[in-house]
Amino acid sequence: MKKHVETNLSHIAKFAPFAEQTGASHFPIYNTGTFDLKKQDGDKIYDYTRSDNPTREMLENLFTEVEGGAGCVCTHTGIASVALLFETTLKANSHILVEADCYGGTFRLLKIFEEKYNVTVHFANFLEFDKMEEILKNNPIDLVLCESPTNPGLKIIDLKQVAALAKQNNALFAVDNSLATFISQQPLNLGADFSLFSTTKYISGHGAVVAGAIVAKTEELAKEIHYYANAGGRSQNPMDVYLITLGIPTLKVRMAEHEKNSIIIAQYLEKQDYIAKVTHPSLESHPQHTLAKEQMTYIPGLFCVDFKTVELAEQFIENTKIFGEKCSFGSPDSRVEIPAKISHATFSKEELAAIGISDSTVRFSIGLENVEDLIKDIEQAVE
Ligand SMILES: Cc1ncc(COP(=O)(O)O)c(C=O)c1O
Repeated sequence: MKKHVETNLSHIAKFAPFAEQTGASHFPIYNTGTFDLKKQDGDKIYDYTRSDNPTREMLENLFTEVEGGAGCVCTHTGIASVALLFETTLKANSHILVEADCYGGTFRLLKIFEEKYNVTVHFANFLEFDKMEEILKNNPIDLVLCESPTNPGLKIIDLKQVAALAKQNNALFAVDNSLATFISQQPLNLGADFSLFSTTKYISGHGAVVAGAIVAKTEELAKEIHYYANAGGRSQNPMDVYLITLGIPTLKVRMAEHEKNSIIIAQYLEKQDYIAKVTHPSLESHPQHTLAKEQMTYIPGLFCVDFKTVELAEQFIENTKIFGEKCSFGSPDSRVEIPAKISHATFSKEELAAIGISDSTVRFSIGLENVEDLIKDIEQAVE
């Protein structure tokens, strides 16, 4: 029987190898480098933790199931899953088409591939379909990559439409699902070939670990990511896997609460005279609000706010007491940051302006606190 995502997340240990023998609700952490080949005679043989480890396999089996894929590799950071995607799908002189509104670390990695391996990176606005079509027709694109929602611009990309376009042009399509997570959207079911994500954020949910994962749609692609993960040493250590499993069963309730709290704060901010614009896909004012509701079950509690001046934005960040000035998102504690200075500092001012981000844009990650306390903190910060 095919189960809903939250049912699988609540029975995570069932995805562990040998789970049937113990019925344990948590799974042993195999903190080992090697396994004795002489002691094993099953279908699956473990030899070295860099290639396979039963603890990591539990999480890989779970992610494969909930994303609707054929195989997964859990990586030691989220950006390692992006690097693994590039190592698997690109070669020297490849072409890649990327949504220009992307995480700063992905942008930095693309620049490295451009400079060192002569990979041509075509940045585009994935809402401008005709322009994407033109790039795909005129260039030998190997890989199409986007986030949805995008970080930091919170754009919603029509994943089904982009998947069809990539397929027509024989390109692989990968979606960075870090913001929405598999509880809200499963890109492979919408036509993508890879879904990758940082588990540092909502999935682990407690800010205690950095990690990531990549899930492939087909057996063939799953074998490829596994091969390159072993070759490049991208895989995650078992202790970190354990930390992630502690957060996973509550993902659904946390996502719902992050969304609920963030809507209240975003609506409050929309009414303030020191604010120029609030960009949150849950608000009706967001240009892709309808698509956001169709494509995602829960909309993440991450949004951007343009203050009327840079000084106001800086004063606000300086004075907040509950909100920390922190990069990353998806933790129980609320955070603010100026993307131009922190998470997206690898972009030039012009590149950020092209995706609608300026020095007065503040990114909010709303946590699980009481919203009245958060609003009071905002009020005192702008006094
Ligand atoms: C969309 C997106 N993808 C990937 C990453 C990288 O994840 P990590 O920080 O776990 O390496 C981030 C980090 O902020 C992100 O926002």
